[in-house]
Amino acid sequence: MGLNLILLGPPGAGKGTQSKLLIDRYGIPQVSTGDILRAAVKACSPACLRANEFMLKGALVPDELVIEIIKDRLQLSDSLKGFILDGFPRTVAQADALNAMLISAGRIIDHVISITVDNEFLLQRVIGRLTCKGCGRGYHKIFDTPQQAGVCDSCGADLFQREDDKEETMRARLNTYQVQTAPLIGYYESANLLRSINGLGSIQEINDSLIKVIEG
Ligand code: AP5
Ligand code: MG
Repeated sequence: MGLNLILLGPPGAGKGTQSKLLIDRYGIPQVSTGDILRAAVKACSPACLRANEFMLKGALVPDELVIEIIKDRLQLSDSLKGFILDGFPRTVAQADALNAMLISAGRIIDHVISITVDNEFLLQRVIGRLTCKGCGRGYHKIFDTPQQAGVCDSCGADLFQREDDKEETMRARLNTYQVQTAPLIGYYESANLLRSINGLGSIQEINDSLIKVIEG
């Protein structure tokens, strides 16, 4: 049923940027646990204010909370056509929970695509990132600038800098990725689902590589 993708990669690899392009091509939603958590924090629900403490430290939010979020999100009708998971799963426990959810729904993962970029470039990308308050589209102060400074080309809303996009927090996020998320590369390799692409190059070049993997 549908096209079910997981984009795996460290902070700044381009998961969000590429998801937005894949939405248009395949008509399936992007499901980003980071975006869902930030929206919940903005709405000030108590559980999510606690989540923000982890996010600001560059640590992972507890598995139970994100698994619950994904369970609810994948039941919405738009994701029955397929989904692009961006930033989930991030631990082996989350990957196991996702497998169980999909098995009970009679669904499968089509591809897990790991986007690889060296740490030095990741830091540069994240520190220069700007994000739209309205539609969540990402920009970069040097690599992907909006037509009018500070304003989103797609929806006209203001751009802002994410609270966790500071150098110190980003270093913590990179470390968290290495310790807790990188083991998923071996996990999905063993399941014969993993494909890796080089995440260095222009946004369009990386999009072309992704499409090649997806369409074979
Ligand atoms: P999340 O929002 O998922 O952040 P992340 O994984 O750290 O990833 P980013 O969003 O920073 O990077 P991206 O790969 O999307 O890069 P982007 O495309 O924007 O998570 C935030 C926090 O929430 C976590 O730290 C954790 O606390 C919590 N959380 C989320 N999910 C969780 C889970 N499952 N379990 C537990 N906790 C969870 O690109 C980055 C920049 O580079 C942009 O400025 C972009 O314009 C630019 N760029 C993109 N592509 C290129 C290119 N090819 N060339 C040059 N520049 C480029
Ligand atoms: Mg992102």
